[in-house]
Amino acid sequence: MPTTQVREISAATRLDNVRYAIRDLAVLAEQVTQQGHRVLPLNIGDPLNFDFQTPAHMIEAVSKAMRDGKNGYAPSAGIKEALDAIRRQAEGKGIPNIQDIFITSGVSEAVDVCLAALLNPGENVLTPAPDYPLYSAVLAKLGVRLNPYELNEDDGWQPDLTDITRKISPRTRGIVLINPNNPTGSVCSRARLESVAELARRHNLVIFADEIYDKLILDNDPHTAMAAVARDVPVVTFGGLSKNYLAPGWRIGWGVVTGDGAAVKPYVEGINRLLRARLCANHPEQYAIRPALEGPQDHLVEINRKLRSRRDLTVKWTNSTPRVSCVPPRGAFYAFPSLDIPEGDDVFVKELLLQKHVLLVHGSGFGQRAGSKHFRIVFLPDEKTLGSAYQAIADFLRERYH
Ligand SMILES: Cc1ncc(COP(=O)(O)O)c(C=O)c1O
Repeated sequence: MPTTQVREISAATRLDNVRYAIRDLAVLAEQVTQQGHRVLPLNIGDPLNFDFQTPAHMIEAVSKAMRDGKNGYAPSAGIKEALDAIRRQAEGKGIPNIQDIFITSGVSEAVDVCLAALLNPGENVLTPAPDYPLYSAVLAKLGVRLNPYELNEDDGWQPDLTDITRKISPRTRGIVLINPNNPTGSVCSRARLESVAELARRHNLVIFADEIYDKLILDNDPHTAMAAVARDVPVVTFGGLSKNYLAPGWRIGWGVVTGDGAAVKPYVEGINRLLRARLCANHPEQYAIRPALEGPQDHLVEINRKLRSRRDLTVKWTNSTPRVSCVPPRGAFYAFPSLDIPEGDDVFVKELLLQKHVLLVHGSGFGQRAGSKHFRIVFLPDEKTLGSAYQAIADFLRERYH
């Protein structure tokens, strides 16, 4: 007789710290929807949920690639015409000393591969707090302890150099800098980039420069690439099609490794070993990279116009709403207002969803500084939709906290 006793299959304990708050509330949102309410999703940074569309010439390039039979495996690092276009774009941003370029399934996979290729047990990488949860999830998967450094809200969410210096130990191998930043919408000043580069130089750290939003700049100052500032330091710059080019579902990202050739050689080999083991990124979609980077850029004018107006509306609302205050976002499409309430921001976000059907993400889901309270807004929806969401949040704050 086969035994019928069912035993639980436990998940690996190192996953205990894997959280992705941005999607965690989706289950509750689904229940609210099933009760017949329309939930307004201000939680996920997907422009395609709103009035943004993938540029037609990119769709045509992918569809042509499929018709032309580009449906087999691609080279592990990516197709040549796309790699060349990524190189030209990086050089155009003043990035010297390019040692390697590779294409991945979104920046998400690039981060996974680059951290796995660097870290031994017991080593660590500095990550920003608040953070974008991909980094802590990948580090948890690798069994690596988190070593967060503060973004200072009183300093426009710039990286806190004193805190970074304090957190560097002999086992620290790298530092992640997200610029423009998710979740705060801040843009790092050139002076601060230079200071972080100097710390990395002194302590032999690899800089992971996540610049996936580098073309979504809401004020006039142009974006400065970390690798253009930290010319002699090992830097992996991440970019992709998900945000600047409105194609998150295609899962196309890339990494550009710069710095001294001899110094980064073993690391680049490690990265490429992992890239070969996972075969390749999506093949036909790689044919959109060159047309995206080198074709018409009209959509960027349009996106930045819309985002500027929506950012201004958001700032106006946060400035005029009791219990809410916000450092004005300067890039990407996120705001991270601070909350003055007597309960946790997770309770706030959950009750807001249940009562007003507006879905935000709580600051505690981004590893914010202990004791602080925030929520993240995705200000991608049109002004009318945002206006009603903000009215609903203001009503909720008044009703719940008088
Ligand atoms: C800072 C940051 N890095 C990486 C990603 C993931 O990008 P991809 O879609 O290329 O995997 C996101 C997505 O929101 C992000 O905000």
